[in-house]
Amino acid sequence: MKPQPHIKTEGTSKFQIGEIKNNTVQYDFEKIKTYLNIKGHILFGKNFRIYKEDEPLLFKLCCYFIQDHYSCAQMGIDTNKGLLLSGPVGCGKTSLMKLLPHLAPHKTNYEIIPTRNIVFNFNASGFEVLEKYNETKNYCFDDLGVEPTGSHYAKECNVMGEILLSRYDLFTRHPEQVTERSRSVVSVSHSSKWKTKTHITTNLNAQELEKRYGNRVRSRLREMFNLISFDQASTDKRK
Ligand SMILES: Nc1ncnc2c1ncn2[C@@H]1O[C@H](COP(=O)(O)OP(=O)(O)O)[C@@H](O)[C@H]1O
Ligand SMILES: [Mg+2]
Repeated sequence: MKPQPHIKTEGTSKFQIGEIKNNTVQYDFEKIKTYLNIKGHILFGKNFRIYKEDEPLLFKLCCYFIQDHYSCAQMGIDTNKGLLLSGPVGCGKTSLMKLLPHLAPHKTNYEIIPTRNIVFNFNASGFEVLEKYNETKNYCFDDLGVEPTGSHYAKECNVMGEILLSRYDLFTRHPEQVTERSRSVVSVSHSSKWKTKTHITTNLNAQELEKRYGNRVRSRLREMFNLISFDQASTDKRK
């Protein structure tokens, strides 16, 4: 059977989120919202809903997740970079980063890991933990800034700062340095799928991130990420 990226199956139900035209999927935001509502219910419970006030932000994110290069470019989003999703506690950052990869898993996927867990692992196992993130796999570091400073046998380490610097090196490395598989540079140099991407959710703003991780990290953040923010007045959805 042909792959059908425009049809999502949940149990016995099917949801069409777009149409195939000229071999590409033309996604339909209204249908995407319907699907996300349903998938959100399945993942997070019956209180989940798409908030009207979040729709402009959601639209941007959806364009990114389906890798709609044209719409993203119009909104100043670079589909080769990762996402840095910021906003107040409880506005729904983590939920969206768990939900949205279901839209087009063949285009955008990553493992989502709370930064707190990374530091706990570091404290238990030491510097070998950093190596795990120095690989060409995509990650979303959830809740950057809440983690404590790492400490392994009294050796202190700004764990996430170090990891972000090595993720930057992976991101900027040219594809042919990353993979032996590609002999032809031309065939991969325009493709974003070879770029190692990192995504972040955080409650901190740019100044706070700089204070926490230093100027070296902050200047790289701008290069690596599209900065996407919930409104500071966004409601806490826990209430
Ligand atoms: N769109 C939504 N509708 C209903 N509840 C939501 C929605 N988004 C998040 N929540 C709930 O609100 C709480 C906080 O969401 P979360 O994604 O953890 O926020 P953040 O990561 O921004 O702190 C969670 O209990 C989550 O299930
Ligand atoms: Mg969160």
